[in-house]
Amino acid sequence: MSIRGELAGSGVLVTGGAGFIGSHIVDRLLADGAREVVIIDNFFLGNEQNLENALKNGAVLYRDDCEFSSSLDYVFENHNIDVVYNCATKALNYSFMNPSNAFDTNIVVALNLLELQRKGLFSTLCHFSTSEVYGSALYEPMDEMHPKNPTTTYAAGKAAADLAVESYVRMFGIDAYIVRPFNNYGPRQNDAGPLAGVIPITARRILEGRKPEIHGNGLQSRDFIYVHDTIDAVLKCHDVLPAGETVNISAENCIAIGHLIEMVADLIGYDGEIIRKPGRASDVACHNATSDKLRDMIEFYLTPFSDGLQQTLDWYKARFKRIQRLA
Ligand SMILES: NC(=O)c1ccc[n+]([C@@H]2O[C@H](COP(=O)([O-])OP(=O)(O)OC[C@H]3O[C@@H](n4cnc5c(N)ncnc54)[C@H](O)[C@@H]3O)[C@@H](O)[C@H]2O)c1
Repeated sequence: MSIRGELAGSGVLVTGGAGFIGSHIVDRLLADGAREVVIIDNFFLGNEQNLENALKNGAVLYRDDCEFSSSLDYVFENHNIDVVYNCATKALNYSFMNPSNAFDTNIVVALNLLELQRKGLFSTLCHFSTSEVYGSALYEPMDEMHPKNPTTTYAAGKAAADLAVESYVRMFGIDAYIVRPFNNYGPRQNDAGPLAGVIPITARRILEGRKPEIHGNGLQSRDFIYVHDTIDAVLKCHDVLPAGETVNISAENCIAIGHLIEMVADLIGYDGEIIRKPGRASDVACHNATSDKLRDMIEFYLTPFSDGLQQTLDWYKARFKRIQRLA
């Protein structure tokens, strides 16, 4: 029994749908029978390869920027949207280079969507928050009541957007809820340049014959969840999570980054040097979460970390082989 209408048969917009998590949501929505799946992405980080199957399967792509309300107006004029998944963001690392714009994107996109929803242009908003809003753990494991203590402007923008969602629910009675994933890993996470995730960049460096790097002492820890498990949980939240509520989505596995890099090296068969680099200012020291609230609401499936990591590395190995063949 769903507290909302079924996603199957609905028109769905995914902002940031060409990115890592967004593109997996798009694929699942299409497989689950959404009437129409529309994507808006400015390709700041996402790419069309992530949507290869989705576009063949009928998804509609707008290469546009949802920080402009007029771009969203245009999409809504052309499509009958029931549900929006707000995944658009500029990666956390970008906030070290352009703090103000990283903040702006997170809040402006949310406000643009909330205004459209307030005017009745769609029914339900699933807004993506991030574990980064908690900052370093004041207590462990972190639940949804943990104070918000963002250490970067990226996280500050996310925390502000969360408050905006909650206030629009209280003021205007809109149907919006917040999912708060912890660190995701899996196929399609960006592997290039300064905005790359730790698993893909480590895999890429090794597969390209370079040495992997650890920033800081490697003891900083994160809670890593396989992206397909996150998507499954997010889509189940549609049926059960009341408006105005927030839920953590984590695997409760707390892995030190140094250990993770060693695991990646080991699974790829690399036994060379791991380079030590200075730590980053404002890096969160520890993330260890509880998903008790989520588990009380849905059947929550978790892929064992070693299986998920192996599947992820297999995907990157295949990807780099393809790149090398084309080079
Ligand atoms: N990946 C994680 O570990 C993780 C953890 C917690 C929360 N989240 C949240 O999940 C959501 C998706 O994250 P992701 O890892 O897929 O990130 P991603 O960077 O892979 O995807 C974000 C997408 O948004 C697009 N984008 C950026 N600015 C835009 C704009 N103004 N207009 C249109 N598109 C824009 C980018 O091009 C990109 O494709 C984000 O809200 C993020 O905060 C991610």
